[in-house]
Amino acid sequence: MFISMKSVSAIVAGICLGAVAFQAEAQEATRLREAAKGLFLIGNAVPTRAFSDLIASDILAQDFNRLTCENEMKFDATEPQEGQFNFRAGDTLVEFAQKYNMKVHGHTFLWHSQTPQWVFQNPNDGRPMREVVLARLENHIRALMTHWKGKIQSWDVCNECFEDDGRPRGFSPWRQNIGDDYMEQAFRIADKVAKEFGEEKVLLVYNDFNMYKPGKVQAVVKMVNDFKAKGVRIDAIGMQAHWQSNDDPSIETIEAAFKAYAATGCKIIISEMDINTRNGFRNSGRGLERDDSVQGNADSSADALAKRYGQIFDLFVKYHESIYAVTLWGIGDSWSWLRGGQPLIFDNNLDPKPCYYSVLESLKKGQKELKK
Ligand code: XIL
Repeated sequence: MFISMKSVSAIVAGICLGAVAFQAEAQEATRLREAAKGLFLIGNAVPTRAFSDLIASDILAQDFNRLTCENEMKFDATEPQEGQFNFRAGDTLVEFAQKYNMKVHGHTFLWHSQTPQWVFQNPNDGRPMREVVLARLENHIRALMTHWKGKIQSWDVCNECFEDDGRPRGFSPWRQNIGDDYMEQAFRIADKVAKEFGEEKVLLVYNDFNMYKPGKVQAVVKMVNDFKAKGVRIDAIGMQAHWQSNDDPSIETIEAAFKAYAATGCKIIISEMDINTRNGFRNSGRGLERDDSVQGNADSSADALAKRYGQIFDLFVKYHESIYAVTLWGIGDSWSWLRGGQPLIFDNNLDPKPCYYSVLESLKKGQKELKK
């Protein structure tokens, strides 16, 4: 049962979420978490204020079994000053996840954004900047992996390092300071540090947006194959999935990317899914950007968005053997970073939208197939 806004006042403080979390076991699944069993993990990305919101917490515990910090495990949040770590917000999410038997995804070690300036400042101690920045990265990765040892099952090692056409990202202070092999170095460090703690099972992930664009697909596949040939560990490919509610990208295009990524032997993670419904705006990976050519979105039609979510989840179900997890980037529309995009499966009041039910139906169909 969903807790509606109207009934919140009737809910007594201290309600035990766990008691209701698994009640649907015996009957047909009524919540996503149950329905996704055996297919893939189903996740959500949240700010830690979600855990002091009764409705949001209830949804997270009942519908999802994997959590990502929307911002609080990023470099600027966890190490704002060199050597001064802040784990408090991340700990809140990890504790909630443990209480409700959920996996945790760490986001993210190396990214050109939300990384503090000090990382790229020259200490003028005679060392080359490549050495300085690599040492800072290693220190950071070691501190986070030590702190959350045994509590985080996958990490985005590198985030958003390619342009859509497959060239290396133009603006990257990491690449500028370390050199062209910066991603390889980051994965080598993450693997080395993971091994120090017996954390070899932690999945090391490359994550990016527009991961269906042919140039990017080719570049990522090439990188993964190069890594494998050199013995550099990479376990999963994260497709952010900031997509449009019209047919962009098309199901065929997404499927072609799945085939290419699955052929590398890596697992696929749908890592940041949201589907923009606003005409005249594109869901670009940098947020909603004005683009007058974008028409045909489902801005006024909840049913069209439901259809789109359903078709996409049918595809996820078809490829469930290659997909490790599907994570939505937020709970309800008012929590979304895409203001006005109404891109999520719960509305502003955290009530389920029609697309919630189309996702549920896709998962249930998938589960029926599994049982055959
Ligand atoms: C976004 C968050 O949702 C916002 O709250 C923040 O202001 C900016 O970052 N790609 C990523 C995510 O890898 O970390 C971004 O998250 C969305 C795009």
